[in-house]
Amino acid sequence: MSGRIPRQFIDDLLLRVDIVDLIDSRVPLKKSGNNYVARCPFHNEKTPSFSVNRSRQTYHCFGCGVGGNAISFLIDYAHLGFVEAVEDLAAFVGVEVPRENAESTDVVKADNAAVYKVLEAVAAFYAEQLRGEQGQKAVAYLKNRGVSGRIAGQFNLGYASAQWDAVLSRFDRQALLDAGLVVVKDDGKVYDRFRDRLMFPIRDKRHRVIGFGGRVLDDSLPKYLNSPETAVFSKGKEVYGLSELLAANAKPSRILVVEGYMDVIALAQFGVTHAVAALGTATSKTHMEMLFRFTSELVFCFDGDNAGRQAAWKAVDAALPCLRDGRQIRIMLLPQGHDPDSLLRQEGLDGFERQINQALMLSDYFFEHLGAAQNLASVEGRAKLLADAKPQIEKMPPGFFREMMFSRLRELTGAGLRDKSVERVFKKPPRAPSGKGSPLMRKVLALLLQYPRFALWAEQQLRGVSDNHLPGFDFLQNVLAVIAEQKPENSAVLIEFFRGSEYEKAVNALVNLDLGLIELDAEAEFQGALRQLLRQMGEARMSYLIEKLSRGEVLTAEELMEFRSGGKTNPG
Ligand code: UTP
Ligand code: MN
Repeated sequence: MSGRIPRQFIDDLLLRVDIVDLIDSRVPLKKSGNNYVARCPFHNEKTPSFSVNRSRQTYHCFGCGVGGNAISFLIDYAHLGFVEAVEDLAAFVGVEVPRENAESTDVVKADNAAVYKVLEAVAAFYAEQLRGEQGQKAVAYLKNRGVSGRIAGQFNLGYASAQWDAVLSRFDRQALLDAGLVVVKDDGKVYDRFRDRLMFPIRDKRHRVIGFGGRVLDDSLPKYLNSPETAVFSKGKEVYGLSELLAANAKPSRILVVEGYMDVIALAQFGVTHAVAALGTATSKTHMEMLFRFTSELVFCFDGDNAGRQAAWKAVDAALPCLRDGRQIRIMLLPQGHDPDSLLRQEGLDGFERQINQALMLSDYFFEHLGAAQNLASVEGRAKLLADAKPQIEKMPPGFFREMMFSRLRELTGAGLRDKSVERVFKKPPRAPSGKGSPLMRKVLALLLQYPRFALWAEQQLRGVSDNHLPGFDFLQNVLAVIAEQKPENSAVLIEFFRGSEYEKAVNALVNLDLGLIELDAEAEFQGALRQLLRQMGEARMSYLIEKLSRGEVLTAEELMEFRSGGKTNPG
């Protein structure tokens, strides 16, 4: 376990960094009025609607709605996790990330550093061996499979010699053990894990070597040997080829998911640089979520045989919960006996791409697969389809895509089943109240989040205001409390505070709500809006009290006073 990053450090970091510099280093910005603008890196557009605000230290795209602070930008743009984003931001500013209870964590961190270091060094060693005398037979093997020196270099392919201690005799034993590069036999002896194999280094999205795959050069078994799970390598999370893909194109419009190392290599050889391979495991939901951070379309290639069909259905099953609107999955079943590598060599790139373009949309595949098992001419068959498909579609996140899947299912199954029962099946759960509040409440909240310094006056005005059941009131109190406590110097720090809370989305949206104000007007506007809101609160409070009375309930002494004064709250 690495220690927590202290909250104070994160807030200081957000004050130290200039978001304009940070974003400009990745996406060149142009000054425009008070803001800096660019064509949005998160969606395709011709005219710039991506805007960065220096005083708030936030960014926002009016086209696609993304927005946040410097940390959010790194999370979205560089596809990093929160901690990774803080680390990279700290590196950008040139400071170290401190950890709470650093003592125990320093050891762990140093260990992983040693693991990464040895993996990188061993990858370089294997690559060097490939070019050496012993590597000649591996080079011949690659040539025979049509892999050029350029592609071998691009993927940093290597050769592990037949020697039992080639890496053991050269690198730190403990680091090798932790990296899974050596094995301890029953007799306690330690050997190189990979011997006489063509080596494929596996890198993560930050381009660090985390493990290896190794292929035999003949027909012996096992054909492939992979690194075991280690502190830095998890097969359920990583894919082969991602680092190389990102180096070629950080925003691929689609990613092909294939089964094998050599498929990725062959595709690259033919100029297709947007393929990755799962590491001998089924593609999981975790894999897909990770890949969807880089692209909006995944195309899965499976063998056309029975096993391939089963794997395809498994992938569909895992994919459903990831299918938010705007994400797309297609399923490509290859001709019997082919993998992408062999198909490419037989058909060439054109033929292969034709097949990709014919790949079925997940929705078509879904209904084809489930429908094929039933006789849809019969009521029983349709009822069975309904029973099979509905729980699957329910796994999808709410959105148009899900609604369309439902309406298609309704079309396929509706006829002949008693209308009422079908409709009951499709009945939607009631909507949760949004709680965001009236336009006036939103305006007050937005101004407060954009100009945290207004909070002091607002707090005084609201002191003693009782709960008035006005939507958004809780949120407003929350924001005021946070500002009073955190004293944020800009909106970026506020955004950070609400990350992960139920208000995160609303805060992000309100920080960027364009109120069409110039700085000078903002304060007067805020005071006016808050006064109006206070009036509304009074009215809401009055109707609450009247309702209470009309139910025949007794008011407390305080409530009675409030009622008499027409909903004005008693200060103190
Ligand atoms: P395949 O057996 O389909 O091999 O394994 P392939 O990728 O077509 O390999 P080539 O073309 O003969 O070189 C598909 C994937 O399954 C995993 C590997 O990730 C491989 O790329 N695998 C296969 C293993 O992990 N171990 C094995 O012994 C075999
Ligand atoms: Mn193959």
